[in-house]
Amino acid sequence: MEMNQAKTRTSLLAGIACGLLSACSSEPPLASIDQLVTDMTQRIEAITAAEKLGDVVPRFNQPKTIACLDGQFEVHDDVPADLKKGLFAKAASYPARLRFANASEMDDSKKDIRGLSIKLSGVQGDVLWGEQGTQDFILNSYPALFVSTPEDFLGFIRARQQDEKLRFFLNPFNAHLKSLWIVFKARQKNNSPLDMQFWSTVPFALGSEQQAVKYSAIPCSGYQTEQPVNPGSNQLRSAIKAHLQQQPACFHFAVQTQADPPSMPIEDASVIWDEEQSPFINVATLTLEDQSFDTPQSLAQCERISFNPWQSLAAHKPLGRMNEVRRAVYANAEKFRNKERP
Ligand code: HEM
Repeated sequence: MEMNQAKTRTSLLAGIACGLLSACSSEPPLASIDQLVTDMTQRIEAITAAEKLGDVVPRFNQPKTIACLDGQFEVHDDVPADLKKGLFAKAASYPARLRFANASEMDDSKKDIRGLSIKLSGVQGDVLWGEQGTQDFILNSYPALFVSTPEDFLGFIRARQQDEKLRFFLNPFNAHLKSLWIVFKARQKNNSPLDMQFWSTVPFALGSEQQAVKYSAIPCSGYQTEQPVNPGSNQLRSAIKAHLQQQPACFHFAVQTQADPPSMPIEDASVIWDEEQSPFINVATLTLEDQSFDTPQSLAQCERISFNPWQSLAAHKPLGRMNEVRRAVYANAEKFRNKERP
């Protein structure tokens, strides 16, 4: 208690000093990508090591595995000419491995942001990083990220490490009220991940860096889960199972082009690109058939699998500093959590 009061006093004094000396400009200089990666990696390792459960070091983000599933990703033959780039250049079918997850809650019945990560195999062309023949897409269940920049993300990681998340949002001298609002709107109770829309939130190139796009997976199944199936901590896993036993699941995979750079920025991940100004256009369909996925083997494989936005064809290069930082942060995080431990 006394410790907390002392911390609050220190930050108050720092804030007053800033104001009096005008030494703390509202726009601090940008950190280098290397600095951000090093600082984030050290903190993420400390946080996840402390959260280790049995043999498993959880992911820093999206730690609760709902399910890993196999699917098929079919690129349409009628993709509009200006979007026929990279993977979407010609009609083709790719095996897909999907991971559905919760951003922070282990209990599926609680409000949360959900994640959908997709790994395609059999892809032709050189990749920017990682394994040849593979293309990853990493999506969240809200169209904006809760922070604008990697510097803000680092601020949040620091607060989480110090167990002071609320202070990140409400610090009177550096409040993140928009972030708090986004978290409030993005965290939802859900009946099934198969009925939810997911977004990349950050942009990627399409063909060349002159054309930026965001991605979305939009549910298109004929079946909807109306209420929680087996309410409780694994209810979303149960909902997937019940759905697939009734009929296959389907998502449209769609791209949204950057039509107006000032209102659709690359460097602010908290801005939603207006769908009226630039609607998502379907370029592929993802289909999931009934399968056995809630086995201990499948769940253990799901803990080990990893995704990286840079596991990608050059035609879909990740754009912006937020994505720049993610290349090494995800690679380091994966190595750390999958490291052999005595
Ligand atoms: C600087 C920005 C970001 C940082 C530092 C960061 C950090 C991380 C880390 C460390 C992991 C765990 C990786 C692993 O252990 O394999 C992760 C996973 C994840 N992140 Fe991020 N993230 C950032 C931005 C984003 C954005 C913009 C999205 C938007 C979709 C996102 C969505 C996800 C998802 C869905 C996962 C789970 C991946 C999986 O299933 O393995 N993150 N993030």
